[in-house]
Amino acid sequence: MTGEGYSSYPILEALQKQLPSRHRFHVPAHCVLPHQYWSRYDLTELPGLDYLYQPRGCIAAAQELAASVFRAGKTFFLVNGSSAGLIASILAFCRPGETLLLGRNSHRSVAAGLILSGARPKFIPVAEGPAGIPLNIKIADAARALKCSAAARGLLVTSPNYWGVGSALTALTALLQQRGIPLLVDEAHGGHFIFHEAFPVSAARAGATLWVNSGHKTLGALTPGAYLHVRENIPEMRKLEEALSMLQTASPPYPVLLSLDLARGWLEKCGHSAFNAALETAIKLKRAISESRVFQCLEQQELPPEMQLDPLRLTIYWHRFPLTGYQLCELLHERGIEIEMAGTAYIVAMVHPGLSADAATSLLRALQDLEKRFGTGSPIRPPDPYPLPALILTPREAATAKTRMVPLREAAGLIAAQLVTPFPPGVPVLYPGELILPETIARFEADLKAGVHFQDLALKPQPLLAVVAE
Ligand SMILES: Cc1ncc(COP(=O)(O)O)c(C=O)c1O
Repeated sequence: MTGEGYSSYPILEALQKQLPSRHRFHVPAHCVLPHQYWSRYDLTELPGLDYLYQPRGCIAAAQELAASVFRAGKTFFLVNGSSAGLIASILAFCRPGETLLLGRNSHRSVAAGLILSGARPKFIPVAEGPAGIPLNIKIADAARALKCSAAARGLLVTSPNYWGVGSALTALTALLQQRGIPLLVDEAHGGHFIFHEAFPVSAARAGATLWVNSGHKTLGALTPGAYLHVRENIPEMRKLEEALSMLQTASPPYPVLLSLDLARGWLEKCGHSAFNAALETAIKLKRAISESRVFQCLEQQELPPEMQLDPLRLTIYWHRFPLTGYQLCELLHERGIEIEMAGTAYIVAMVHPGLSADAATSLLRALQDLEKRFGTGSPIRPPDPYPLPALILTPREAATAKTRMVPLREAAGLIAAQLVTPFPPGVPVLYPGELILPETIARFEADLKAGVHFQDLALKPQPLLAVVAE
């Protein structure tokens, strides 16, 4: 693809370099879908095809089939990821100033929904596990938040989180039913839960009002294909559909839509057996890793009993290995192994039906070699969790206020006018409208030094934050 006046294709070149002989423990899980379809079927609203919004033909039919497989009343195909579904849901449920309860582990798209809707978040803290691994929200904390927020419009939980830890969806549904408010679930990483009894309880089975699944993360659909499911006809449906049509492209991207339909068909036919095989791989791998003297896998027994662990997410952590997760990730990359994410003292690998037979062996061998090479080190102390600051303005008020940029070091005591999001996992640690605490600044500085990538922090000529101008 060179010549004709074009000499350089940076994206193609980077992708081609990434390709050879890799073992892929990360999203997207390319399972079984035929790749030759994608350019051939990139068509538009031609006779016999359908519209993306208010569909009446093939898209409507495919969405109905998906609703039946995912046990929903109605399913929308999302062509801008679960992100679009989450933002649209918040816009549908919340008016400016209304309160939405949500876990502090919410994805950045939820923050976008808060900014666009003008809703007031009431955050529920997230429990922490070994090696600083974030767990999920506790029912007692959710119940407390609910008690203090008489007019809350709903509760939005992320279940499972990036580390595969799900919250107690059935108990939360019961709690919310008493109050007559909806449970909205960001199940972006848990689309496979409904297909196997060994997985945590899915949002569908728990009786959630609405939930999203990123088909491209764990179900083999093309990026950024996702599903938004609604349990039954809700009064907010019209607003939801309107928001989806405003947030996504006007043109149906047929390859993405087709991949969502093909993934549904494949899941319906062989979802259980494919995930069963992946489950066996994950169990064997975990067992073998547990023989290591330094590495261990996060296990169900380490969680509060109300939380459930996705057995396909391998969070491998350590206390006495002399490298950080970021360094380990780099060494694995050099050996042709790509994992999903890293933290100070852990890495997260995803086992999925598309994983090649020798991938598990390669990961295990690499860990064994690295253990031999580096041995044990002094204990690593994971950083303290980010503090939960006071909310002075709503995210929308702060994001639309007059702002100024200040050096990070001088921002303590001011009100943030922007999000700050380490990526991955894409969970904001500071929201517009929050008071900037000295502890938050110290933690940013430590993370920057450790090489954490921040999605929204201006770094040049020095780290700067947008704050609300007095
Ligand atoms: C917990 C969580 N929710 C939602 C999303 C957004 O999903 P998508 O990439 O499908 O827009 C992500 C993306 O990584 C995520 O980690």
